[in-house]
Amino acid sequence: LDKISRSVWQSSDVRRTLIKRERFGHKGTYGHVLLIGGCADMPGAIQLSARGALKSGAGLVSVMIDRATRPFLQLPHEVMTRTSEQLSPQLLMNYQAIAVGMGFGLTEEKQVLFQQILTTNAPVLIDADGLTLLARDISILNKRQGPTVLTPHPKEFARLTGRTVEEIKTDPFTVTKVFAKEYGVYLVLKGAYTIITSPTGDQVINTTGNSALSKGGSGDILSGIASVRMMQDESIFPGLCNAVYLHGYASDVAVKEEFTAFDITPTDVVEKLSEAYRAFI
Ligand code: APR
Ligand code: MG
Repeated sequence: LDKISRSVWQSSDVRRTLIKRERFGHKGTYGHVLLIGGCADMPGAIQLSARGALKSGAGLVSVMIDRATRPFLQLPHEVMTRTSEQLSPQLLMNYQAIAVGMGFGLTEEKQVLFQQILTTNAPVLIDADGLTLLARDISILNKRQGPTVLTPHPKEFARLTGRTVEEIKTDPFTVTKVFAKEYGVYLVLKGAYTIITSPTGDQVINTTGNSALSKGGSGDILSGIASVRMMQDESIFPGLCNAVYLHGYASDVAVKEEFTAFDITPTDVVEKLSEAYRAFI
């Protein structure tokens, strides 16, 4: 228990590792993030991710969707779009961080796209449908050159490991550590207490957040926030810890000040990111 309390991510950790915004910074200083996902059945997920990234200080935010999904999207004016037909290794070199999987769909075509995306050397965060596609052939991780981040909830992690959710919940620290080291990935096992593990087995627990987040769309917002934090902060591991912390913190502010855990929506949580960031600058 003592070890656990020592590895809780603290406000002082956020303050120490969060990027400082510089007077002479420009959009190149803050990086370009690419979010890949969206399909006609789930057009909302990628939009939520885009809002999370936009409200987290990315220099530029781009979204990649398939052409058929484009008519269903309403993105903030600041967000640029690419279509998956334009995907190439050269194109992917333009981004300092990539996140894939939010409302991505699971078709054969998406499986092929997914494999192409993983050939990039840029840091790639894999979430939601990306994790389902990954579970079909997890050996693809062994071919990764750049850093890889996985953000499963327990059911998605169960699919990746072939274990049951019960087994994972019995000893989440060990199963996550073994997995992260074996595949050389950063692993964010989401839940009321999220556990973040580095490829070398460092582990941190996050305790911010509340049941206001137990709603479809919360994870999509986290992916947007996390893709920016991992790109900008001291390094990927503290960046991921900060993302989880600030996402939870924003929801805590929201239920304290304005909403309740009943009526708050993930979109409301994004608005409260202002207060989360303000507390750490
Ligand atoms: N306390 C604190 N944090 C919580 C709580 C809680 N009680 N409940 C949920 N959260 C946080 C989690 O830690 C995580 O960051 O909310 C987020 C939920 O993320 P997901 O489980 O990915 O949920 P969701 O937003 O619905 O995902 C969207 O992806 O995983 C797929 O099937 C899922 O299609 C859905 C999509
Ligand atoms: Mg999810």
